Amino acid sequence: MTIMVTGGAGYIGSHTCADLLAHGHDVVVVDDFSNSTPEAVDALRLVSGRDVASYRADVRDGAALGEIFAAHPIDTVIHFAAKKSVPESVQVPLDYYDVNVAGTASLVRSMTEHGVRRIVFSSSCSIYGDAHPEPLNEDDPPGPTNPYARSKLICEQLLADACVASTDLSAIALRYFNPVGAHPSGDLGEVPTGHFDNLMPRLCAVAAGQADKLQVFGTDYPTPDGSAIRDYVHVMDVAEAHRVAIDHLDDRAGMRLLNVGTGTGVSVLGLIDAFTRTCGVPVPYALAGRRPGDVASLTADPSRIAAQWGWRASRDVTQMCQDAWRFAVRHPVGYQA
Ligand code: NAD
Ligand code: WQD
Repeated sequence: MTIMVTGGAGYIGSHTCADLLAHGHDVVVVDDFSNSTPEAVDALRLVSGRDVASYRADVRDGAALGEIFAAHPIDTVIHFAAKKSVPESVQVPLDYYDVNVAGTASLVRSMTEHGVRRIVFSSSCSIYGDAHPEPLNEDDPPGPTNPYARSKLICEQLLADACVASTDLSAIALRYFNPVGAHPSGDLGEVPTGHFDNLMPRLCAVAAGQADKLQVFGTDYPTPDGSAIRDYVHVMDVAEAHRVAIDHLDDRAGMRLLNVGTGTGVSVLGLIDAFTRTCGVPVPYALAGRRPGDVASLTADPSRIAAQWGWRASRDVTQMCQDAWRFAVRHPVGYQA
């Protein structure tokens, strides 16, 4: 297949491209490089040993998308391109609705105009909010608590509506939990170009001596060690879920929603401990207050995707830490190193 991958230079997009290329698919990367660099595509070429078509384009630019659809025999789209910082979304919500929602509308319109009927969309566990018993399953009513999460929920609804209007459209929204880790080569990883808030990149920065201490946000949660619990899932498992999804797009038309997580929760202190033991590097940390907007625990019920497609995460927290750290050591200043 020839797959358009929007946001293909970003963290999850680049790893998904690597997996698709390793399994014989062709990819066409479309990225405006607002949170990545063209060097990520070079790294993708290096680890895959394949050529990769790449375009600098904004998904809101219908004319640019039209030219790309016209230039390649694209049959499937995987849509990663988005803004993804929860705190930033509270500061500049209109930017989030513009890029995430208007960007998705523009892409689906362009797909439809060019006869492309298959799309996999990056959704997020953040759409569940914090009002549910765990583990979280796809039938739990959404309760997004910030503009980023609301923009993702609107995109899911947009896709469902588009599937009603175009009855041959097939859309799958994958709700990722907390992707971490890196490609096993150590040459593809997470390289945000803007400000980053996520735990694993910060943990690696402290382990590498680029920051003094990791702040542990919240030690009074109702969890066994008091720190917050998340369902960390290896980015290569997430990548594989996309390949499995595209194999199932033709099962039926319409919209489907699936969790992508392990089903196992790990606390912040638990992740620090696993990283320290696995990588043999100390991670100095300081206990701090809760981060505004955080919830105590988010763990997936991953049984639907397992039952429907046989996909299960196969990599454990040890491997997540090993692979994240291998990339951080080999590329301490990102792809420029
Ligand atoms: P990322 O920022 O590394 O990748 C997103 C890519 O999209 C970047 O390369 C960026 O330059 C590009 N982009 C942004 N706006 C664009 C636009 N208007 N036009 C074209 N390209 C644009 O993020 P990621 O972690 O790889 O996340 C990928 C997707 O998965 C996003 O949709 C995100 O919301 C979703 N998601 C991420 C996580 C996570 O924890 N990383 C969890 C759940 C869902
Ligand atoms: C994990 C835990 C922090 C940094 C967000 C989005 C979610 C998804 C993944 C996109 C929390 C704690 C963090 C630090 C810490 N993204 N932490 N010290 O907030 O669960 O999820 O990213 O869709 O939608 O909401 O991920 O990695 O930022 O935080 O103690 O320096 O680590 O407070 O408890 P989060 P995270």
